[in-house]
Amino acid sequence: MHEKKVKEIFSSISGKYDMANTLLSFGIEKYWRKRFNSHIKGIERRILDACCGTGMSTFSVLNKIPEKDLQQTEIFGIDFSKEMLEIAKKRLLKLGGSKHIPKISFSEADAANTSFDNNYFDLITVAFGLRNIIDRDKAIEEFYRIAAPGGRLLIMEFNMPQRGIFSKLYRFYLNRILINIGKIITGKRNAYRHLAESIREFPNPEIIVDKLKIAGWKSITTQSMTMGTCIIYCAEKFQ
Ligand SMILES: C[S@@+](CC[C@H](N)C(=O)[O-])C[C@H]1O[C@@H](n2cnc3c(N)ncnc32)[C@H](O)[C@@H]1O
Repeated sequence: MHEKKVKEIFSSISGKYDMANTLLSFGIEKYWRKRFNSHIKGIERRILDACCGTGMSTFSVLNKIPEKDLQQTEIFGIDFSKEMLEIAKKRLLKLGGSKHIPKISFSEADAANTSFDNNYFDLITVAFGLRNIIDRDKAIEEFYRIAAPGGRLLIMEFNMPQRGIFSKLYRFYLNRILINIGKIITGKRNAYRHLAESIREFPNPEIIVDKLKIAGWKSITTQSMTMGTCIIYCAEKFQ
């Protein structure tokens, strides 16, 4: 699939994206995000949320930052869909002026080719974004370039269980239930066809770990959730 198409898909469902996520995951998504955020140490001062979408993943970092460090913390959210970012920006406006948030900014950028300085971020998060990036290898290299020595990369991504009855059930869910319910909620059948396809075609965790290693990432760990349907990858850039 071409990048332009991915951008169009997310832009077309932006207004219903959050609600569709909650309904289609039967609420499990909340639990996954909680586990993902448990990997954030709270000592990170420069944070990038790549493929931030509507800001769901960006704002969920906030309660991990100690109050005393809020002023020294910068959070950047980037995404290439203007429409998804608009929702994130509206959310930010709602929080606006609160003393109890760090500096947050959202901007349009390609995760595989950013203009951030080398060695900048203490933490880079990518929640359900990597699957959608066409040039995944380049993005993983780009994250390495802009991570500070000692900085970490946290990725959360869907996975297709390969064996057993659950794998069959999951395939049925993706091909029948997800596409149809997605269409009912958003009116965009194609978007949910893309979602199902991107989950089926996303490389297995061993391949993603290899890609991370090739880019230079170290101390790579994976955590499998909900019968292997969602994986958290943690990696570190050595000092
Ligand atoms: C499934 S959404 C995830 C949004 C958010 N991280 C979350 O947890 O809800 C994936 C996002 O990745 C964005 N995206 C895909 N490829 C991208 C790229 N190359 N650069 C920047 N954003 C990209 C899409 O526009 C979309 O908003």
